Amino acid sequence: MKKEQKCAREMLEFIEKSPSCFHAVDNVKKQLEAKGFKELREADDWKLQPGDKGYVIRNDSSLIAFRVPDGQSPLGFHMVAAHSDSPTFKVKEAPEMVVEDHYIKLNTEKYGGMILSTWLDRPLSVAGRIALRKNGKIVSRLVNVDKDLFVIPNVAIHMNRDMNKGVEYNPQVDMLPLFADGVESQGKGALLKKIAKAADVKESDILGHDLFLYVHDKGRVLGENGEFLLSPRLDDLQCVYAAMRAFLQSEPKEYINVCAVFDNEEIGSGTKQGADSTFLEDALSRVAEALGIEGGAYKQMLAESFLISADNAHAVHPNHPEKADPTNRPYLNGGVVIKYHGAQKYTTDAVSAARMKAICEDAGVPYQSYANRADISGGSTLGNISTAHVSVSSVDIGMPQLAMHSAVETAGVRDVGYAIRALACFYEE
Ligand code: CO
Repeated sequence: MKKEQKCAREMLEFIEKSPSCFHAVDNVKKQLEAKGFKELREADDWKLQPGDKGYVIRNDSSLIAFRVPDGQSPLGFHMVAAHSDSPTFKVKEAPEMVVEDHYIKLNTEKYGGMILSTWLDRPLSVAGRIALRKNGKIVSRLVNVDKDLFVIPNVAIHMNRDMNKGVEYNPQVDMLPLFADGVESQGKGALLKKIAKAADVKESDILGHDLFLYVHDKGRVLGENGEFLLSPRLDDLQCVYAAMRAFLQSEPKEYINVCAVFDNEEIGSGTKQGADSTFLEDALSRVAEALGIEGGAYKQMLAESFLISADNAHAVHPNHPEKADPTNRPYLNGGVVIKYHGAQKYTTDAVSAARMKAICEDAGVPYQSYANRADISGGSTLGNISTAHVSVSSVDIGMPQLAMHSAVETAGVRDVGYAIRALACFYEE
């Protein structure tokens, strides 16, 4: 268990350093740079050789890394995709609101579908990116205040005796974070002042921001034998981390290895940098073109390619085992979850499931299966959206977890290592 815990703690550290989608992508970028990967810009001309390794970023929040094998022309792409974003609250423009000349709270809105109540009474901070005017150009910069800064306070039970019978939360009323004591605070513009200070820039240079709240708390290992993990953003930074680790430790043989991290899965992927954009097809076709592979030869490569869409899965809940499908029952620490869906919201089919099982068997990693109960409609994910643009054989997997889209989620310590081993085995095929 010691080794598994070490691996899990490294992942928790990665998550802690990734308070926003922008920071997640920046942390992946740093790991790639440390291993000699070179950044290619979409606006530039690309030239590549066998053995080259690089990455491309769109909107600071989605990243596609690739590694070309040495030797003869590659047969296709071996791809793993995960998402950089998690449900949170986005700070609106002009966010400060004064309450009765006494408190300053922030005006925010929901990003994605979170369990609202779980964000109450926790230390929160703010991170994201700002856009600045610099030497006549607009440039973006990451910012993380990294302090206990806000709280969204509950209403006392004495003021709502029915609280434990279930509460409907209104995001415009119940979910606005308390920021300052109005008597002391400078009021309007106070948040941007803090942001400017944290980013070490002039407040007047900040012309735009994408700022998100985050739970300012560390992830931790718990359970009688330290077998569980409790952390914010496990969906889907757990899969981002596993995909990145597997990608970095693997030598490609006959296929171009690809690690794709997409933003905006939690809001439907329909943005210029989401899975439902041209980003993946643009990156793949440009990598091929830069290697001198075009037209029919590129299509031949796609026909030989495989995509593993990695997004966390629901484990059987200890208090609500009846919510899980009667026969497909994943458990924490039970291994990689292969996800099935009759209407193909999960892309798994007989052939891709068989391939994933074979990969797990070769890696010596257990696997389990997930399907929604037939009377519960589940979520969607990256696979079927990506394959609508780049139509390759694909499987949907994830690591089992509890409390998906809670401010802090629970997962199994062993599953982190299992996923890394399985994905590394795929990348070395
Ligand atoms: Co997810």
